[in-house]
Amino acid sequence: MSQTLAVRQATRRHYLMCRPTYFDVTYAINPWMDPGKPVDTGLAIAQWEGLRRLYQDHGHTVDLIEPVEGLPDMVFAANGATVVDDRVLVARFRHPQRAAEAPAYREWFTAGGYREVHLATNVNEAEGDYMVVGATILAGTGFRTDPRAHAELQAALGRPVVTLTLTDPRFYHLDTALAVLSDTEVMYYPGAFCPDSLATLRALFPDAVVVEEADAVAFGLNAVSDGLHVFLPDTATGLAGQLRERGFEPVGVDLSELLKAGGSVKCCTLEIRHQAQA
Ligand code: ARG
Repeated sequence: MSQTLAVRQATRRHYLMCRPTYFDVTYAINPWMDPGKPVDTGLAIAQWEGLRRLYQDHGHTVDLIEPVEGLPDMVFAANGATVVDDRVLVARFRHPQRAAEAPAYREWFTAGGYREVHLATNVNEAEGDYMVVGATILAGTGFRTDPRAHAELQAALGRPVVTLTLTDPRFYHLDTALAVLSDTEVMYYPGAFCPDSLATLRALFPDAVVVEEADAVAFGLNAVSDGLHVFLPDTATGLAGQLRERGFEPVGVDLSELLKAGGSVKCCTLEIRHQAQA
């Protein structure tokens, strides 16, 4: 059966990133982290610079937040806040090792003059578990974000929220198991979700790109799409082929050093979504 290729178009994005100046693996809060394994911070910085340059070369704006010494996971900016229509909901981290990142992100947005900066009451790890698809937000729970945070998200950002429960500890944040490709399309790894959530995903996105386990464990779903280009780990080769078939342009990125902390492309990227101009 021949498939009609959708006409894809990139739109300019605004990202916030944090240089991995103090990156290290000194504790283990997910199964990928092994503090006994050496980490090359210089290599992590070089790989991260590569991602930043790639975004800029594709026409995207990248803002930077100052890294804080003693916060080795701060490079994973996606966990700092969720931003929709210039409204900001700051994260509240599950683990004490990352708790101090939240005030740093709060200050960055407050200093930037964002019109609403909400502080969260419930534990939520921001875009690690919250994925904006068109007018809806898919919200993960199971490992990090407290399910009670989902109602708080809906109230703060004014968008309907759909709860999805993760069950495989390798995919502890929603952004390791699902990625947004466009306002109506997603890709996901079915093995990461409980049966009810899988049924929800199938009903909402019958044409989703369904990803194989090998690409999921290569962190292929930790991807960022601008509507045409999909930035993803270069080791997720099967998934790159699936994306090409759908008319996307996969752009492979090597962030192997950051994977030692259980993060890749999307984890390093907080998307700032502005209010549409009337
Ligand atoms: N070591 C970090 C943690 O376990 C990695 C965070 C990855 N971020 C993400 N958005 N999935 O919290």
